[in-house]
Amino acid sequence: MPLDLDALGISPPGPGADPEAPEVALHWLVTMAALTEQAAPPEAPAVATRAVEQAQAKRPDRDVTLGQLHIDAASSARRAAAILEATGPDAAVIAIGDDDGVTVALRALGATDVHAVDLDPRLLAWLGAHGVETTLADVLGSSVPEPLRRRFDAAVTDPFRDLDGGLGFLTYAAACVRPGGDLFWVDHPAWNYEHHVVRDALASLGWRVTEERPSLHRYPLAPGELEPVAAAYPEHAAEIRALAARCAAWSDLYRLRRT
Ligand SMILES: C[S@@+](CC[C@H](N)C(=O)[O-])C[C@H]1O[C@@H](n2cnc3c(N)ncnc32)[C@H](O)[C@@H]1O
Repeated sequence: MPLDLDALGISPPGPGADPEAPEVALHWLVTMAALTEQAAPPEAPAVATRAVEQAQAKRPDRDVTLGQLHIDAASSARRAAAILEATGPDAAVIAIGDDDGVTVALRALGATDVHAVDLDPRLLAWLGAHGVETTLADVLGSSVPEPLRRRFDAAVTDPFRDLDGGLGFLTYAAACVRPGGDLFWVDHPAWNYEHHVVRDALASLGWRVTEERPSLHRYPLAPGELEPVAAAYPEHAAEIRALAARCAAWSDLYRLRRT
């Protein structure tokens, strides 16, 4: 029987919600389970999926203190393909944060001018081994280096899912885009409870969403990840475990242009 959030008194979380709170995490799980049933992502380009899969074998372990959380290889390939479809195959592209190897997928699809900025030197060494140019920087604590400013046809970022972190990554990314270029933002309103606040802030800076690709990226859930939620709702623990076992998390890709 599906979990009845209304009967449990759980309403959609709003700005400032604590993602670790059991009622917030349960709302997230039920939403992601529904998305898992509905999601129909486009086929991923095989050459890029293979390149990311091969690269993943040598990717450094996740550093959760830096918010690293991996999508699957096909999702990295889909994100890269969507960017090049929008910008053209010769686009110069920069990724602000790239634990998913989207820049590896861009290279596999033929992009030659591909750059990544990250705070994790291990990740940059990994991406650099695949022909990606790299810059080590704390994008939340430093300004954009002059050589990166307005140099790229497109910037892509998959930032922290809140106002401060989200906007910090997005404004850094936006500063790297040439006039008339594209900004790609990875997010989901059921995962980032400040999604609309971030979107409004971007609009006030002139960046408006011109295209949305829903559920483009899939995040496999780790076994036991939802155990704290099952423990918080012991009378529904079996349903919660069953849901978690057949569900993945999803995020969207938003294309923004400056008007
Ligand atoms: C914020 S994480 C989130 C990405 C993750 N794939 C997701 O979907 O949740 C994205 C990338 O940003 C990097 N990162 C985290 N904090 C950073 C900072 N202050 N400056 C630069 N990069 C940072 C991480 O190492 C990671 O590669």
